[in-house]
Amino acid sequence: MTDISQYLKVPTVDPNFFVLDEDQLNLERLEKLSEKHPINILITGNQGCGKSSLVRQFASFYQRPMVTFQIGLLSEAGQLFGQQRLKEGETFYQSFLFPKAIQIPGCVIHLEEINRSENPHALNDLFSVLSNERCIWVDELGLVEVAPKVIFFATMNEGEEFSGTDEMDSALRDRFYRIHLDYPPMEVEEQILVLKTGVDMSVAKQILRVINKLRSNNQMGMGISIRHSLMISELVAMGASLREAVIYSLQISMDVLESLLLSIHAETGDTAVDVRKYNRYVHAKGGQTP
Ligand SMILES: Nc1ncnc2c1ncn2[C@@H]1O[C@H](COP(=O)(O)OP(=O)(O)OP(=O)(O)O)[C@@H](O)[C@H]1O
Ligand SMILES: [Mg+2]
Repeated sequence: MTDISQYLKVPTVDPNFFVLDEDQLNLERLEKLSEKHPINILITGNQGCGKSSLVRQFASFYQRPMVTFQIGLLSEAGQLFGQQRLKEGETFYQSFLFPKAIQIPGCVIHLEEINRSENPHALNDLFSVLSNERCIWVDELGLVEVAPKVIFFATMNEGEEFSGTDEMDSALRDRFYRIHLDYPPMEVEEQILVLKTGVDMSVAKQILRVINKLRSNNQMGMGISIRHSLMISELVAMGASLREAVIYSLQISMDVLESLLLSIHAETGDTAVDVRKYNRYVHAKGGQTP
């Protein structure tokens, strides 16, 4: 098997990632536990609340290489390990990254959207590697054993309202410690916007006031994540008005947009996009667009 450990990277740290002290403390405990026996950690929370970022942050903090696998895309068992391929009329088995990555000591294996797999049987292979035995027999590869101190992190979108077991098989869920992430409070989100996009605190507050109007309006049924508030702030930092930034960041119906724009207008007097003008899309200095 090719030695891929040299290609796998320890993620770079995000100096502006905020996490609850208690979550950080428990991650520290779990990291210590991983020295003693295999550990799996499930991170749940709403869309864009920082689940994937937390896994990356963990890997960078503990200097572990990390690889992410989109479990939601799997449609049949065996797909993670490899595939029969055809070359010059001959079939051969091509092994994928997954069996290689789980054999790297200390690697963080991020299983993204573990509850979204199209076919529940596609997850069958995972049961074996997530169990305490930490190994699986693959006909084409032989016995694949998970290396010491490998940690599996699964992430899935799941709000606090969740109570059933249908979203993720309970046998699978049973194998994980769980961290539930909430969106951080306003004051923290304001800091995130300022630190990550460079907008002023007063602008960040204004952006969040508008976003919170949408968040608190249940009829609009909109989940607006930190990802969205960051997108809006980034556009504002690039010179867009709040109105424009909202229009180009959120995919919302015209009705919702209209009432939102009214509230922005009331908030900021910003009407810039009312006078929308068309022009040819060419470079200002007369050159052609590429
Ligand atoms: N607590 C936080 N501190 C700083 N930035 C955050 C925080 N939470 C989320 N972000 C930022 O928001 C964006 C979305 O985060 P991330 O992709 O980790 O969310 P997710 O929960 O994995 O989303 P999805 O549900 O779509 O998988 C990233 O740019 C991330 O840096
Ligand atoms: Mg994610």
